[in-house]
Amino acid sequence: MKKILITGGAGFIGSHVVRRFVTRYPDCAIYNLDKLTYAGNLENLHDVEQCSNYHFVKGDIQDFDFISSLFEKHRFDGVVHLAAESHVDRSISNPLEFVMTNVVGTVNLLNAARKLWLNPESPMPQARFYHISTDEVYGSLGSEGIFTETTKYDPHSPYSASKASSDHFVRAYHDTYGFPVVISNCSNNYGSFHFPEKLIPLAIHNIKNKKPIPVYGKGENIRDWLFVEDHASAIDLIFHKGKNGETYNIGGNNEWKNIDLIRLLCRIMDRKLGRKEGESEQLITFVKDRAGHDLRYAIDSSKLQNELGWKPSLRLEEGLEKTVEWYLGNEAWLEHVTSGQYQKYYDAQYTQR
Ligand code: NAD
Ligand code: TYD
Repeated sequence: MKKILITGGAGFIGSHVVRRFVTRYPDCAIYNLDKLTYAGNLENLHDVEQCSNYHFVKGDIQDFDFISSLFEKHRFDGVVHLAAESHVDRSISNPLEFVMTNVVGTVNLLNAARKLWLNPESPMPQARFYHISTDEVYGSLGSEGIFTETTKYDPHSPYSASKASSDHFVRAYHDTYGFPVVISNCSNNYGSFHFPEKLIPLAIHNIKNKKPIPVYGKGENIRDWLFVEDHASAIDLIFHKGKNGETYNIGGNNEWKNIDLIRLLCRIMDRKLGRKEGESEQLITFVKDRAGHDLRYAIDSSKLQNELGWKPSLRLEEGLEKTVEWYLGNEAWLEHVTSGQYQKYYDAQYTQR
């Protein structure tokens, strides 16, 4: 049975990837390795945790000895690496944790996989290391232009600097050791199981509770939004059909100014909550801008579309409706992640196994 290691599978995007792989590939054993930081929550995977091909391993990619023994024990055939510290604002207040997990953790995984896969006595030539990255490594655009796979790296935040660094290490292992890698750089995701510190889930949570919606600066910054299940489908395709040594951009062609996005969200929430039109917009509060705030991201995913045949399924307007419905229907999840109660779920499900 083929064994695939997915790191960060208890997080937002990782949980969608784990669910997709566990259900679509019943003949593969899927190992979810996650430290369960504040952003990792096993409740995200309650619907697949009983599947016989799903395995959870609690662990930290910063710990090389642990990672190395895990690779020796399971001899993984492939790695889909998502584990990371992912929030720009947190990277501004604590950059070192981003270096430790995003850079050192990635190099630990590369070293453990290299030791196993490139061992001359028992090489594993079909193996593949897939690194999931972000479009933020390309820096910030003005009103014109779009990121392609050949855009020069120009990260500005500690988060994007750490992701750029890990991308460079992954490429360096390919070029130096002939190590089998593929990388993708994706735009901003949204959808279910998104921790309510990022713009969209935070705004949904605050609107629901009639709390202020903090909009940084004048809300003029532009992001290119992709529904998380479309990212998971792209990851599946790239992992199985992408070419080693290549990079693929992933994005939905859905550029929105933050303030326009928030106004749209307010209208959807007013309708779904039976509030008067315009009521939620009153909660918009302009706050101090983020330091080094990138103005605009926009991604050209034509390589992925033309070479591998990927297409996003939802535009932001449709995806946002679905996302709001999910949050309104999953109040317990929101309550657990905001109160830290998901640790209790972990203890109940896993510690006595
Ligand atoms: P997330 O913060 O929701 O989840 C990260 C997961 O990694 C969590 O489950 C956490 O517990 C785990 N983790 C953190 N440190 C770890 C460590 N040291 N060892 C093991 N596990 C650890 O993040 P996300 O939004 O799901 O992002 C997943 C990946 O996709 C990241 O690599 C991120 O850079 C990339 N990405 C995210 C977006 C986005 O819009 N969210 C866009 C493009 C790329
Ligand atoms: P975020 O969801 O943190 O993703 P990223 O910084 O990786 O793009 O932020 C999306 C945009 O929304 C970004 O321009 C910053 C802005 N923002 C706010 O205006 N208010 C908020 O409370 C947050 C979290 C973000």
